Amino acid sequence: MKAVILVGGFGTRLRPLTLSIPKPLVEFANKPMILHQIEALKAVGVKEVILAINYRPQVMMSFLEEYESKLGIKITCSQETEPLGTAGPLALAKENLTQDNDEPIFVLNSDIICEYPLKEMLEFHNVHGGEASIMVTKVAEPSKYGVVVMDEDTGKVKKFVEKPVTFVGNKINAGIYLLNTSVVDRIPLQPTSIERQVFPAIAEEGLLYAMESKGFWMDVGQPKDYLAGLRLYLEHLRRNFANSLVAGPNIIGNVLIDESAKIGEGCLIGPDVSVGPGCVIECGVRLSSCTLMKGVRVKSSAYVSGSIIGGHSTIGQSVHISSMAVLGEDVHVNDTMFLNGVVVLPHKEIKTHFVKPEIVM
Ligand code: GDD
Ligand code: MG
Repeated sequence: MKAVILVGGFGTRLRPLTLSIPKPLVEFANKPMILHQIEALKAVGVKEVILAINYRPQVMMSFLEEYESKLGIKITCSQETEPLGTAGPLALAKENLTQDNDEPIFVLNSDIICEYPLKEMLEFHNVHGGEASIMVTKVAEPSKYGVVVMDEDTGKVKKFVEKPVTFVGNKINAGIYLLNTSVVDRIPLQPTSIERQVFPAIAEEGLLYAMESKGFWMDVGQPKDYLAGLRLYLEHLRRNFANSLVAGPNIIGNVLIDESAKIGEGCLIGPDVSVGPGCVIECGVRLSSCTLMKGVRVKSSAYVSGSIIGGHSTIGQSVHISSMAVLGEDVHVNDTMFLNGVVVLPHKEIKTHFVKPEIVM
């Protein structure tokens, strides 16, 4: 079986993290986002993953080489010279996807984190006899997604409306599809939207089916959702793989700490924290609801809450960072600084306090 992961787009909503690396390589819970997906695909028997890419191919390429052998799965790149949208890339990879292949193809958005019920999806797809299956999930605020109106008993999709302006329903496209190869034949080799063009057409013919996933799901393509997704993901680990979380008198709730990270005396960490590979947390540090990406150093008595700290950054002694601050890669915050909701571009040094949210260029 083959899969396509849509990794194009500029990841603008996840800046400044995506100024240093493509969105799919941004760490989520201590590993690049896309690895969560590739691992889930491999687990259901996918042998080749095609990354549909139009942004910084060099960085992606060197990443691929490392993980192809590590994971034992073929990973190839299909590179667009102009952005082809969410369906065009399937037409571009048509030869690879359809030649000598009659198995359905998984297609994934690259910025979603969930339980990946891909095995259930395969079973669902094999039974309904339609041309395409999409995974849906319920959300409170459907307007920023693709909304799916379906027959509750059969799953047959009646209507697919991308980013509706008026309320249509609260079941949304979770960004995971299983498509017969015939769907690829429908797509012209030009910028085409799977959500606005392809799915509405297949739904019209009564050949589009939706499977609701009851597990957790989040599009982590923007900072606030990223931290909400982290909370859900860690809770999922708690319920299913509790051993992967850390425990101890200095830990509150769900906390994931890479085994190569060093934690000093007298820290208080949690809930909902991930500390990445190679991080060094000095004594008396307080961390809650935050992510520290790889190689971050937090000096003694600092406080980080509700924020994302990009890789290889340094947080000075007694610094206070809170309220959805996002620090890009390699940011250095001097001792005792107070940072409230700031967004800091990569490689900056912070020498003054920021009491209200702003962008530090
Ligand atoms: N290769 C390629 N080329 N990939 C692209 C392009 C392109 O031109 N444009 C977007 N993508 C990729 C993005 O990298 C992402 O993985 C995926 O397509 C979806 O694009 P987003 O920009 O993240 O879309 P969205 O979040 O607004 O909406 C999509 O996801 C929602 C779920 O998170 C839609 O699929 C919605 O229907 C869905 O509900
Ligand atoms: Mg998205």
